[in-house]
Amino acid sequence: MCKHSLSSPTFTMSPFFLLSLFLSVSLTSSFPFDTSFHIDCGSATSTVDPFNTTWVADRYYTGGTTSIVSEPLHFRFSHEKTLRFFPLSSGKKNCYIIPNLPSGRYYIRTFTVYDNYDGKSHAPSFDASVEGTLVFSWRSPWPEDLARDGAYSDLFAFVKDGELDFCFYSFATDPPVIGSLEIQQIDPASYGATDIGNNHILVNYGRLSGGSNQWGPGFSDDPDDFGRSWQSDSGFQSQTTKNSVKSVSTRENISNTNQPPNYFPMKLYQTAIMARGAIEYELEVDAKLDYLLWFHFAEIDSSVTKVGQRVFDVVVNDKNVSRVDIVKQVGTFAAYSMYYVAKNLSSTGLSVKLLPVLGAVLISGLENYAIVPADLSTMPEQVVAMRALKESLRVPDRMGWNGDPCAPTNWDAWEGITCRPNKAGTALVISQM
Ligand SMILES: *[C@@H]1O[C@H](CO)[C@@H](O)[C@H](O)[C@H]1NC(C)=O
Ligand SMILES: *[C@@H]1O[C@H](CO)[C@@H](O)[C@H](O)[C@H]1NC(C)=O
Ligand SMILES: *[C@@H]1O[C@H](CO)[C@@H](O)[C@H](O)[C@H]1NC(C)=O
Ligand SMILES: *[C@@H]1O[C@H](CO)[C@@H](O)[C@H](O)[C@H]1NC(C)=O
Repeated sequence: MCKHSLSSPTFTMSPFFLLSLFLSVSLTSSFPFDTSFHIDCGSATSTVDPFNTTWVADRYYTGGTTSIVSEPLHFRFSHEKTLRFFPLSSGKKNCYIIPNLPSGRYYIRTFTVYDNYDGKSHAPSFDASVEGTLVFSWRSPWPEDLARDGAYSDLFAFVKDGELDFCFYSFATDPPVIGSLEIQQIDPASYGATDIGNNHILVNYGRLSGGSNQWGPGFSDDPDDFGRSWQSDSGFQSQTTKNSVKSVSTRENISNTNQPPNYFPMKLYQTAIMARGAIEYELEVDAKLDYLLWFHFAEIDSSVTKVGQRVFDVVVNDKNVSRVDIVKQVGTFAAYSMYYVAKNLSSTGLSVKLLPVLGAVLISGLENYAIVPADLSTMPEQVVAMRALKESLRVPDRMGWNGDPCAPTNWDAWEGITCRPNKAGTALVISQM
């Protein structure tokens, strides 16, 4: 479904793990959500990276085996060098199942890489799901750079049943693979949840920082309470925009930052791109989905101090969606963000333009998320019953009885069972065994 990347488990809570959880709690300042995990898939030991993030040894997986990339020196961090893969002998469907999670909303980031770890020169084809909803598709052949260098992918998902299921499903004979898996609890009201509800997953299709390089957790020491990293916007600007924009930045403090529910970091608003003419971003999307566009602005050019000096229109796929005068909204050196939902896109391109009305145009950041509706999942009582059955029958690993028995609906159910929606269409039930 998308060009981003993915990432990954034992069911023991070692004393070391509890210690690292405690540390991450005591280090978070005012941010009220303290559940986070960084799992170094395929690693037998825990490590600390240069940003002082503790990566715990691999755990919470349902099966599979470990390996390392073929060129470890090509990768910066130890969590990028080791990986877990799921050969067919461990079943078609395998998961990381993180237990005992407080119900709420989570930022989930994965690192996926092939780098010919198995010497077969053939990147695998597989899907990944979160909480029983399909979120990523990896189809071989992967773009060469991506298969070699790997990629981070992330999303925001609600966890309502006390455990996070991140599952893999193989389409061919090559095993699914994952390099690392991170989760961070975030504010459940973030990203418009009061309007959009909590029955969807937001899959990141671009989190751009205007006039800046990649930064944030895993890339620089700049903090972001949600764990979000921000990529440079330069690769997404249209050619005309590239030729006409200039970057602006400030060291002044920006107000309205790090506020609930979105906790957008101050750094995001301390750089921007500016142009006399229009600014256009060309974003790649998958058709037929709705997209949540989140715009970030702050007036950081000290020559603009009054209402009416910088006014521009925001145009999404040729539809005028808003007129913006940052100073009128929030004053100077203050963060202003707004969002727009582009519905049921008919093509794989999404164009976002800022058209000048008065003065030059300026933007600090833009986020684009596919709003993926949550798939149906199996009735909770049946999930419990099936897991008990798996235990008592000692169902072999190769049957892939992991995660939700029936979901996602795009995948085959557990081997040997058939599912259908219940009468109300609200859940899946097992119709045959
Ligand atoms: C990491 O932690 C060590 C010891 O607590 C400290 O000396 C160092 O400055 C920290 N590094 C970063 C990048 O925060
Ligand atoms: C920004 O705010 C911090 C803490 O409130 C303060 O210590 C610092 O001096 C401020 N920086 C500027 C450039 O005003
Ligand atoms: C675009 O829409 C805004 C209101 O959302 C309106 O104020 C503005 O005049 C419109 N721009 C044009 C060029 O029609
Ligand atoms: C989305 O658009 C397609 C045509 O492009 C249409 O057939 C389909 O019914 C639309 N779906 C929704 C949910 O509006």
